[in-house]
Amino acid sequence: MHELIHRRRRNLPNAFAGHPSRVYDFVARRVLRVVYRRVAADIATVAPQGAQVLDVGTGPGVLLVELAARRPDLRLTGVDLSADMVATARRNLTPFADRARAHVGDVTSLPFEDQSFDLIVSSISTHHWDDPEGAVPELARVLRPGGRVYIYDFPFAPFDRLATSAATHSVLNGQTPERSRLRTGVLFLPYVRFVMSA
Ligand SMILES: C[S@@+](CC[C@H](N)C(=O)[O-])C[C@H]1O[C@@H](n2cnc3c(N)ncnc32)[C@H](O)[C@@H]1O
Repeated sequence: MHELIHRRRRNLPNAFAGHPSRVYDFVARRVLRVVYRRVAADIATVAPQGAQVLDVGTGPGVLLVELAARRPDLRLTGVDLSADMVATARRNLTPFADRARAHVGDVTSLPFEDQSFDLIVSSISTHHWDDPEGAVPELARVLRPGGRVYIYDFPFAPFDRLATSAATHSVLNGQTPERSRLRTGVLFLPYVRFVMSA
């Protein structure tokens, strides 16, 4: 069912703009906060000291808020296709404005210099990307040597397409990405943790 929905219209622009974006923000902050805390705790254990971290498809930025609270040393950037989501993320990140920012952008054309980030994270966004193959070289471009990409998404997300793209474009380190399950703390919300290294 998910496959069918997302094959027809992956980006679901109407779901991430206007009123639906406000509903998403409410659910993310008030209902599913435990999930963001779980992912943030996972990232907080692996992010190098003082790292520049990029969250792709950041939505309302709740993951970055949780990460900012845990790791004051990190410099955090969110990017999202939806201007409404970016506006919401900026509002949610206001208490951390000295070390967190958010921009509008597409994962296949990121508005950042080469080798800008030590760590890239993405949470339940890859299954909405129109062009997962085109995303991989762009993620590799903005990642510093030795950096890592941590993707958290549902089991039906395009993990195989991401791995194939890295191999086809000879980007990232050529190693098979690591896959594991992440308990989110919410029943029926299993995440896969998919890690690619530069
Ligand atoms: C389900 S939301 C996830 C938001 C947030 N990461 C979270 O965990 O709640 C998916 C987000 O991915 C964004 N998105 C979809 N395609 C994108 C693309 N090509 N580049 C950047 N962001 C994208 C959407 O606008 C949306 O905000």
